[in-house]
Amino acid sequence: MVTRLFRGRSPRPSDNLLDPGCGTGAFLAGVMRWCRETGRALPQMVGIESEPGRAREARAQFRGTDDIRIRHGDFLTDSIEPFDFIVGNPPYVSIYSLTEDEKRDYRVVYETARGRFDLYLLFFERALKCLKPGGRMVFITPEKFLYVETAGPLRRLLSRVQIEEIELLDEESFDGLVTYPTITTVVNRPSAEATLVRMRDGTHRSCRFEGDASWMPTIRGACAEHAPGGTLRDICVRISCGVATGADDVFVRRADTLEPELADFALPTIAGRELTKPGEISRRSTYVMLVPYTREGSLLPERDLGALGRHLSSKRERLIQRTCTRRKPWYAFHETPPLPEILRPKILCKDITEKPYFWIDREGSLVPRHSVYYIVPADAGIIERLRDYLNSPKAGRWLAEHCQRAANGFLRLQSNILKAMPIPDDLARSRRRKSASRRQLQFPELAGSERFAVR
Ligand SMILES: C[S@@+](CC[C@H](N)C(=O)[O-])C[C@H]1O[C@@H](n2cnc3c(N)ncnc32)[C@H](O)[C@@H]1O
Repeated sequence: MVTRLFRGRSPRPSDNLLDPGCGTGAFLAGVMRWCRETGRALPQMVGIESEPGRAREARAQFRGTDDIRIRHGDFLTDSIEPFDFIVGNPPYVSIYSLTEDEKRDYRVVYETARGRFDLYLLFFERALKCLKPGGRMVFITPEKFLYVETAGPLRRLLSRVQIEEIELLDEESFDGLVTYPTITTVVNRPSAEATLVRMRDGTHRSCRFEGDASWMPTIRGACAEHAPGGTLRDICVRISCGVATGADDVFVRRADTLEPELADFALPTIAGRELTKPGEISRRSTYVMLVPYTREGSLLPERDLGALGRHLSSKRERLIQRTCTRRKPWYAFHETPPLPEILRPKILCKDITEKPYFWIDREGSLVPRHSVYYIVPADAGIIERLRDYLNSPKAGRWLAEHCQRAANGFLRLQSNILKAMPIPDDLARSRRRKSASRRQLQFPELAGSERFAVR
């Protein structure tokens, strides 16, 4: 990282260098070592560390070295002068570890504090703002900022400067931590040249990054091998994560113990853990979801809930603990289920899996739960061909290249990745039928009853 920091621009004694979140000073010591070994002058170095014990230890380590100052402070809120060089390993702290006040304050100040942000995104943004024109910066962070939706604002900021290099490191780089670390080298000048991306398999490629959408398709650059016919998004009316009730312990019941008076409100449902054996999904489903919505997907008024209302009332305390009830009635699902689209022939897959596999719900009767993704082709006539393609080695390779990874190298299938998946020409031809099918969806045929019966 130090070699990259000083590539093409050796440090001078008048330059200054920052390590934000310096810990006990490992990187500053690394810079000193590099300068000694290569016979270069030391720049004026500053380490900022918020944890007092680590700041003390760093100070003790560099006592007697005039060129290094350790500040006990907060990189995200203190006022900070501009720097020629910034090198760091920022903290990886998810939003869940922050207090409500911290989250609110960060959201006011940082463009990157969006959605379920992580502190390293904010460190990136602050460091970019502290970099002098022409200044150089090298950060080691998780690779996720390259593709997660939350990091869109950071990608937008980064694409305005010259990203010289991105190196994807082996997952074992930090003992015991599965972080898929990435080293990013940035120069603070308008982006003019392509970025060199070093891949984990030792190959490298040249990429131009633009905008806030995931950069992974650009990095993988594998789309060219597929037919340019279109993507899965073009032939589907919905590609989405399954229904989040926010209280499956209340809304999901075993079908064989369901009280008969609740049957009108129950729909067969399936979770990722039930998708195990390749092949057909069992027609008899073990679980049902109690659904307080009409078939059109609108929430039933409380007075029309009948037996379901009585059942849910007994769990009212549990249901109002859900965050969604701040803006929705106490018995609503966490997310409104788009039932007209869900209750159609569709393809299902698990959200996290070692090897992606796709199943057909031919009758369109199953409500996928949050651990299941569902793909609804506009033309149900192509469902077998589409399933076969999704289960093909070619599609498997594409998913392995493009999906985010969870622990143990498992793949995380997300809707934005599934939507961007290239499809062969013969499937792409069904695209023409999609718009007609969308029109039908706006006027769904209502069954005799607005509610359902267990099938
Ligand atoms: C991943 S560690 C890196 C430490 C050191 N750079 C290294 O690689 O050994 C991140 C450090 O940032 C510090 N830190 C976290 N939030 C901070 C903040 N807002 N300002 C300054 N330091 C912070 C943590 O205490 C921790 O020491």
